[in-house]
Amino acid sequence: IKHLRSAADLDAPTATLILDTAAEMAALAGREVKKLPTLRGRTVVNLFYEDSTRTRISFEAAAKRLSADVINFSAKGSSVSKGESLKDTALTLQAMGADAVVIRHPASGAPHRLAAWVDGSVVNAGDGTHEHPTQALLDAYTMRSRLGRLDGLRVAIVGDVLHSRVARSNVLLLTTLGAQVTLVGPPTLIPLDVSAALSPSTKVSYDLDSVLPDMDVVMMLRVQTERMQDSYFPSAREYSRRYGLDLARMRKLPEHAIVMHPGPMNRGMEITPEVADSSRSTIVEQVANGVSARMAVLYLLLGGKA
Ligand code: CP
Repeated sequence: IKHLRSAADLDAPTATLILDTAAEMAALAGREVKKLPTLRGRTVVNLFYEDSTRTRISFEAAAKRLSADVINFSAKGSSVSKGESLKDTALTLQAMGADAVVIRHPASGAPHRLAAWVDGSVVNAGDGTHEHPTQALLDAYTMRSRLGRLDGLRVAIVGDVLHSRVARSNVLLLTTLGAQVTLVGPPTLIPLDVSAALSPSTKVSYDLDSVLPDMDVVMMLRVQTERMQDSYFPSAREYSRRYGLDLARMRKLPEHAIVMHPGPMNRGMEITPEVADSSRSTIVEQVANGVSARMAVLYLLLGGKA
């Protein structure tokens, strides 16, 4: 494949190749091989129209570890503030010889538009409420490395599904790889049509307590209050009481089950600090795995091997 715009771009063999390559990257880093010459002479542009901590830093680290030249572009402080369009910005990057453009944008579909305007590969680093495919890859990598498999794995994705690009990409990727996904949250935050369209095998529950004993993974989502209307979200206290993961709820999970969160977290809202910092939490590990997963994506896309 040339671009990674959606988790739907990945069939099972391609997704597995990316996860296997990420494992090789992690193994090399574990043997103190910090830098590979693979992308020497290639240019990766990080084009960020929305704030990011984890994704931007890990794409930069991934490209640098592969010896690529990295250009970091932030909409803040650029000519975007003078009204320059995405197309004109893309053509400027094209003129500078970008081999890959990693884009985060508040508009769903922006990576698809960008791919029509640049010759290089386009990687979606989060577009609106639509998708965040490399987050899904690093999440799948984390599950596989912790639990040994993805096929048949029971995964609950909990909370603000309506606004979550992480949830959409995870449902697509995890079901492609044979996992059984259950979306959990208040009815106003789980669009039934979306969950059915994403994957007919995806289940829906409004009762977190009844779901937890059957899960191998519980993935808590950030409540995106900035995208929220009152009708979706009556009260933070009521939300935490019914859908927040605290120690008492975590104890309902099987012994081996893990707790995930893509970050950034609202500590005390969807997850308590005790759970986020517990030994079952993979939250910090997910960030570290993000570098290996993004190295694999850049290596395979730019090397034409995926
Ligand atoms: N998980 C994630 O996308 O985090 P950032 O917004 O910090 O990149």
